[in-house]
Order: sequence, then C-alpha cells, then structure tokens
Amino acid sequence: MLIKIPKGWEISGGRATSETIYMNRRNILKGMAGAGLIASIGSNAAFGTAFAADGEDPSASLYPVPHNDFYKVTRALTPEKIATTYNNFYEFGSHKEISEAAQALKIRPWTVKIDGMVEKEMEIDIDDLLAKMPLEERVYRHRCVEAWSMVVPWSGFPMKELVKLAAPMSGAKYVVMQTFEDKSVAPGQRQFWYPWPYTDGLTIEEATNDLTFLVTGLYGKPLPKQNGSPLRLAAPWKYGFKQVKSIVRFSFTDKRPETFWEKLIKNEYGFWANINPEVPHPRWSQATERDIGTGERIPTLLYNGYGEYVADIYKNMAGERLFM
Ligand code: MTE
Repeated sequence: MLIKIPKGWEISGGRATSETIYMNRRNILKGMAGAGLIASIGSNAAFGTAFAADGEDPSASLYPVPHNDFYKVTRALTPEKIATTYNNFYEFGSHKEISEAAQALKIRPWTVKIDGMVEKEMEIDIDDLLAKMPLEERVYRHRCVEAWSMVVPWSGFPMKELVKLAAPMSGAKYVVMQTFEDKSVAPGQRQFWYPWPYTDGLTIEEATNDLTFLVTGLYGKPLPKQNGSPLRLAAPWKYGFKQVKSIVRFSFTDKRPETFWEKLIKNEYGFWANINPEVPHPRWSQATERDIGTGERIPTLLYNGYGEYVADIYKNMAGERLFM
C-alpha cells in the first residue's frame, strides 16, 4: 500500500477548520486586550484554562504573541483541555494526571542560570529573559515514546537566541538543560531511585537549528505549570522525554552529557532520541501513534515529519544510536 506523506506546507481541511476556530479566539483575545477587557475579566477565566488564577504569572500580558505560519501541521490541534491534563512530569507523579499536583510549583521568582563554557556566566530573571526574546507562536507536533502524540500551539522563542545571549566558547559542543529541584513541592523528587534533577541535552548544532524552540506559553497564554512553566524545550523531531520542563539552568560543555533517562535505563533511552517509526523502543513499537485529541491511530513519520529541517544534522553520524 502506498501511503502519501503530505509535505510540511500542505494543509488538510480538518486542520484548517480547527485552526480557524483557534485563530478566531486569538483575534478575540487581541481585541479584548485592545479594549482593556482582559485585565478586568482575565483571559484564563474567559477560556477555561487549567492555569491557576493565583496572580503568580506576571507574563500574562505578553500573550497572545504573533503567530509564525512557516511550520505547518496537517493534523487538527489537540483540544487545550486534553493537552493540559494529560502530562508527563515525573516530579509530580509517574502517571498522566499531575496537572493539579503541579500547581504547587512556584514559578516566580524564577532565575535561569547560564554557565559552563560561555564567555561570561550569568543568572537572569525569567521576566528579564522574556523581555529580551522575540516571542512568537508555532504549531508543532509533539510525540512521546509511549506512542501518543498531540498538536499544540506553543509560544516562545528560538533557542538559538538564548545560545547567542550565552555566547558559548568555540570549544563548547553541547548544551545541558536542567529542571528545578525542590522536594518540598515536587513529591516525585523524594523518590531517591530517580537521578534528579531531570536533565537532558542537545548539541550546539541542534540547539541552534531554526526548529528548536524554548517554550513560554501555550494556546496564547502563559505556559501552564503542568506543561513545564515558565520555560521548557520543544525540539519536535525528538521524543517527548528530551523536552525538558521548568528549566533553571543551561550549561555549555564539550562533553556529551548523560541524560536523566540514560542514567535510569541505558538500554531503553539514548542521547539522540530522534523519532523513527522503524526503530522500536524495547517496550513500545514506534510504527504508529495515538493522537490524544482525536483518538486516531496514525503512522509515525521519520523525524516526526520534520526531516526537511533536521536530517542533515545527522548525515555523517554512521554508528551513532540516532533513534532511541
Ligand atoms: N521534564 C521534566 N522535568 N520532568 C519530566 O518528567 N517528562 C518528559 C518531558 N519533559 C518530563 C519532562 C516527557 S516523558 C514528555 S512526553 C514530555 O515532557 C511531556 O510534555 P507534556 O506534558 O507537555 O505533554
């Protein structure tokens, strides 16, 4: 059977419809912002988000941000309610229903440290970082190694902008991202058999690829805590476990880091973790995936469909375990 794999720029009717609904909502939000209504009724209240209305997130007024239409997705957007209540965040539990528990995370003040092989180490307040970065919205596929996937509108900025700010030394080859550590709010971190804090890494070439995005928002609003507020990675050609949430530190190094999941189960997880339907995980076939929005089972695409942007990075890496 011949399966036609649509190119990035082809858009299906279903996708277009749900995008229309989404875009309308964005326009309504923009209009409300213009009319000063958001401040009085609150954008979260208006659309029933799972984000806690505790007044903790001073970045709310930055959203929605301009939409970047370059990266098209041919599937329907996942409903917000599903994307914000079906999560992996082991700090708050090793199951999917962690959205309430994650509200214990304090996201202000939040300081991001940039250290290691950089011209000048720095600590930067998240709101100062947001003010420096060119925020935009991108719709990306998001695929977990457990063979489920979704399509979500992330807001954030290209990671290459953070690399530019960090000014790595010429010998730096990798950037390691690290999640917060606080046992008092994250019960999972009391489970000593996990190698906390959660860390993962990218090569500098991967981190500066145009596709690599640091996420600060979702569905035109600040990122909910359960999705990794206030700062997480979206490198959509890699499995979900690479997408570090609630980042507090970027360290530049010349040594390939051993990631959280490699330390835990080396034979199941590697450094590269690029998506490939032909390379099964020891426990899950990667040939297909279940779209958690529609419930449909669909074929998985090499590099999650983003090969045209990233395949070249790996062309001279014979012998590397690129796909798990
Ligand atoms: N980051 C941290 N700090 N802790 C985690 O447990 N889980 C990863 C990734 N980032 C995880 C994490 C996994 S396995 C997946 S699939 C994605 O986050 C899930 O992101 P989502 O909940 O926004 O869908």
